[in-house]
Amino acid sequence: MKSAQLALPGLLGVGDDEWVFSEDVEGEDSIVSFQHETVLRGEVAEAVLAGLVDATATSEFPRIVDATLGGGGHTEAILAAHPTVRVYGIDRDANARAAASERLAPFGERFIPIAAPFSRLAEVLGELGVSYIDGICADLGVSSPQLDDARYGMSFRREGPIDMRMDTTSGETALEMIERLGDDELANVLFHYGDERRSRRIARSVKKASAEGELRTTLDLRRAIVRAVGPVRVGGVDPATRTFQALRIAVNRELDELDALLVAIPQVLRPGGRAAIISFHSLEDRKIKQAFSLRESFEGVSRKPIIPSDDEQALNVRARSAKLRVAARVGAEDEAEVVAKVETGHDRYLARRGGKKLTRTTVTEAGDE
Ligand SMILES: C[S@@+](CC[C@H](N)C(=O)[O-])C[C@H]1O[C@@H](n2cnc3c(N)ncnc32)[C@H](O)[C@@H]1O
Repeated sequence: MKSAQLALPGLLGVGDDEWVFSEDVEGEDSIVSFQHETVLRGEVAEAVLAGLVDATATSEFPRIVDATLGGGGHTEAILAAHPTVRVYGIDRDANARAAASERLAPFGERFIPIAAPFSRLAEVLGELGVSYIDGICADLGVSSPQLDDARYGMSFRREGPIDMRMDTTSGETALEMIERLGDDELANVLFHYGDERRSRRIARSVKKASAEGELRTTLDLRRAIVRAVGPVRVGGVDPATRTFQALRIAVNRELDELDALLVAIPQVLRPGGRAAIISFHSLEDRKIKQAFSLRESFEGVSRKPIIPSDDEQALNVRARSAKLRVAARVGAEDEAEVVAKVETGHDRYLARRGGKKLTRTTVTEAGDE
């Protein structure tokens, strides 16, 4: 089975396309080996390596970070395209690191795997004695194996534990989060991270199933969702799609991780170095766009994002909602000021969406229409 995050143009009526994760794009099978089709492989390598030319003093061994190693597709493209570059590949999933290490073994010591969340970018590089890097890429979200392997519990099509963690060794599982949150808090998660308009109904039904001891597997979770909203697919999207996406984003703190990465990059990327980030979700793309255009430490390389060619989109459904943004590192700045600017931008976005300013309190009141 191939997995994808599909664009739903205009679904939310805010002008921009919105993306939701959709699992059922092609026929079923049960892949558990690590097979991930790399999106914008050549474009990412080219974008990151372009910064080496601009860098003020390219070192003997230029250092690149791949913040989302996965199966190692982008890292491999970068290593193959430059004779001396070293790539530090970060991933918080042990299976991904193992698969990538096997694939990249021919590059010897030019590839260095790192077990960490990418929010710890500056710290982990510091621990390795690396004071700066010459380029960085990230390909956000989850890999196909994480969706396809039932043990991660990210799929509503496969029976597995309600886990959803990329790093299955630490943090709270989705089931623990459901048990901890109240009905309203759970509804907020579904509304905010999944754009689920029926969030309140679904949250109530999921919490009821949990209280009655009927919530053990991903299929139980889907059943509770269908009980609340019915089995009808809206626009070809399964009724469980948005809830699963929202829980996964919350469990893995995906937006917080991205915020931290965007703050950490200027601390380690040398002037002239390039940052190239692919996102598949409008909440993420907006953060990247704002950081690259508003922060004084970045200069966007192009105003428009790079999107996969028609051919790539035809071959890889996951590519259909990908957006690659590239920025170059420029002078230093006060990071506190930066964060304030970005937060203001986010408030404006929320206000546009709701026709009024959505504060934390009013988000609580949003949900079922
Ligand atoms: C889309 S896949 C990357 C695929 C890779 N570019 C390739 O071509 O094979 C994303 C990977 O990033 C990892 N990941 C996502 N968020 C992360 C985070 N905050 N910290 C570390 N790893 C993360 C996931 O575990 C997953 O393996």
